[in-house]
Amino acid sequence: MPARRIAIVGAGSAYMPGVIRGLLARAGDLAGSELVLYDLDAGRLELMRGLAARMIAAAGADLEVRAEPSLRPALEEADFVFTTFRPGGMHARHLDESIPLRHGVVGQETAGPGGFLMACRSVPVLLEIAGILHRTAPHAWIVNYTNPTGIVTDAVLRHGGARIVGLCDQHVGDLELWARLLRLPYERVEADWLGLNHATWAERLRVDGTELGGQLGERLERLEPPGGADLATRQLVELAKALGLLPNSYARYYYFHDDVLAELRARPTTRAQDVMARLPALYDDYQAAARQASPEPSRERGGGGHGEFAIEVICAIAGDERRRLIVNTRNRGAIDGFEAEAVVEVPSLVGAEGPVPLPMGPLPRQVRGLTMAVHEYEWLAAEAAASGDRRRALQALLAHPFVKRKAAAEAILEEGLAAHRAHLPQFFPAG
Ligand code: G6P
Ligand code: MN
Repeated sequence: MPARRIAIVGAGSAYMPGVIRGLLARAGDLAGSELVLYDLDAGRLELMRGLAARMIAAAGADLEVRAEPSLRPALEEADFVFTTFRPGGMHARHLDESIPLRHGVVGQETAGPGGFLMACRSVPVLLEIAGILHRTAPHAWIVNYTNPTGIVTDAVLRHGGARIVGLCDQHVGDLELWARLLRLPYERVEADWLGLNHATWAERLRVDGTELGGQLGERLERLEPPGGADLATRQLVELAKALGLLPNSYARYYYFHDDVLAELRARPTTRAQDVMARLPALYDDYQAAARQASPEPSRERGGGGHGEFAIEVICAIAGDERRRLIVNTRNRGAIDGFEAEAVVEVPSLVGAEGPVPLPMGPLPRQVRGLTMAVHEYEWLAAEAAASGDRRRALQALLAHPFVKRKAAAEAILEEGLAAHRAHLPQFFPAG
């Protein structure tokens, strides 16, 4: 395949070494390609440029890498723009997770109202990127990991005029989990995960291409969580047995909302704070790795196929591979009952024209209503995040299955917008 220019926005992220590993795994296919790294944090940008250069040299790969401190030049003549940034950083995530908690609602940085606040910060930046590409590189594909990926993808498709595919590697980890629990050979299992990002369901599984069919239900009936399994796994097993299908790991936030609420309230720290506490040591590790001739940076973040999956998607488009990959894209008939324009997460054949979703039929009845409710919330959230319309924003929170109460929706919106004001130009125009 021809050499490509791949811009990476948010290249200072702790996930970056995993992305470089993914690139190196496909270095043959990407030979001659150029990586242009961009990040707001100049120190981390330079660190990752140096580390990437060392890893590329150690692998003897034919890839160029450079850092670009300004956004517009970083996107110039890009074929792919890989977006993996978190506006406001982990501190903003801490607010997303803790503000709703004060009002009796699980915040959750992607699936919950915390994810709504994150969408309000992510969407304007993605729209800025889309705007630049629209004028300077209209053929470029945005390959997006910035969360909440479904809402971001929808906002760019509806308001950005750019090509985008939304990614999440959750289905990789979830299939590993269920294969282990059900004692199936992970490498040989394929699952039809369908629904919305962080709200997918799998009723159809194939082992070596043969449908499990009714066997899945039988296996689920007999399933007991392994001894020593953590609470989240036990909840997921209970849920799978009740629903008769495999739920995404995030399903526990919907069906065990109040248990999760109590659990989070009892904790002294948010997940953002836990992650933040680990980051200095992790960046020290990356610094040390960048000084080695053959760097082996930590896999603590971005292991488990995170970077590899994104590079598989890029290669599938670049090489017109038409490979089956699970991505966020417009429905176009994939899930019966959802509009053609709805952004869904479904198995798709990914090639030069981007993802072509595969027909999946309807969602099982037992999860159809919830998934549709989440979809309507997401549609409203994308609209609010793109426009800065406060009424739409309130409607989005009112539609969210975690929130339900008007007073809570209003309080989360008020406090959330105020706390993130510096990142919300659409809600607080200058002047
Ligand atoms: C999973 C989700 C991602 C999310 C991440 C958060 O991988 O699919 O969308 O960003 O978890 O993980 P963290 O370690 O930051 O809590
Ligand atoms: Mn995800």
